[in-house]
Amino acid sequence: MKNLAVFVLISMTILGVHGQDSKVTIEQLTGPYDLGEGPHWDEENNLLYFVDIHAQKFFAFDPSTQSLTETYLTNGPVGVAVPVADKKNTFIAGSGRDLVEFQWDPSTSNPKPEIKVLSTVEVDRPNNRFNDGKVDPAGRFWAGTMSDKEDQTAVNAGALYRFEEDGTPVKVLENITISNGLSWSHDSETFYYIDSPTLEVVAYDYDMESGDISNKRVIFNLKENDVPGVPDGMTIDKDGHLWVCVWDGNRILEIDPESKKLLRTVEMPAARITSAVFGGPNYDILYVTSAKRGLSEADLEKQPAAGYVFAVQGLGTSGVKSLSAKM
Ligand SMILES: *[C@@H]1O[C@H](CO)[C@@H](O)[C@H](O)[C@H]1NC(C)=O
Repeated sequence: MKNLAVFVLISMTILGVHGQDSKVTIEQLTGPYDLGEGPHWDEENNLLYFVDIHAQKFFAFDPSTQSLTETYLTNGPVGVAVPVADKKNTFIAGSGRDLVEFQWDPSTSNPKPEIKVLSTVEVDRPNNRFNDGKVDPAGRFWAGTMSDKEDQTAVNAGALYRFEEDGTPVKVLENITISNGLSWSHDSETFYYIDSPTLEVVAYDYDMESGDISNKRVIFNLKENDVPGVPDGMTIDKDGHLWVCVWDGNRILEIDPESKKLLRTVEMPAARITSAVFGGPNYDILYVTSAKRGLSEADLEKQPAAGYVFAVQGLGTSGVKSLSAKM
């Protein structure tokens, strides 16, 4: 407990951001990681899950004890992993171009979990890999791809998929460059999505029964709103506002998709903010992942917090449960 108090004090000191609402605190939890992504709050076990994509690792962080466990997916880079509903210690992940299922007890680290490949996409595109993903209101897992060879991203080489309960992929969108943030509105009528280089957050009508989407429209364009950087992962709060993480933007945006207005900017102590999820017992802590990948030594000296996982508190709002996949 004593250690925890000291840790928090140090983090707050390091991470004080000028000009920010003084009620907002940013705590540096664990890291640094190369490319942290895919935060998911496990309500049952009070754990924060996240991945470090190229390290092929999936982590479980317990905020109450500060303990961290990890597992390693021999299969390949892991863009996202989520628990499977009603199957203890079972997860699915987009790893390489495969949808995989693996067994892991997050109370201990396991470098070699049992992995089963359920399906494979884009066999003709060996440079592609899965990136961000999430579970939809019907319990289907969605994940998108991008090309990623030596950090070269080919334009329009990726796609967005949803998966049937047996793991069969259904292509939802094609010509995607960097498939990223996904969220669904609370009435399950709307799907929000980010293909990063477009600089847009877009919305589609969503049919929960079929999983189909249609009627694309733009909710927010970062460039048109003079926001620097590239939109990455996102999550939704209780009011239906989108919290959009900005890569190379040192910030998270709170956007009202109804009015299409930027309501608030949370300044972060790292440039490459990758994704966020609300968690904690009251869902009022915004857990945020970031990356140090691609930053120079000089950059890293200026932002020692790059690549850490953060807890942002005092935002005065809360989110909703992270969904597990029905498989
Ligand atoms: C995707 O790109 C290909 C090649 O440019 C084109 O033929 C196809 O119509 C595009 N698909 C969509 C949905 O825009």
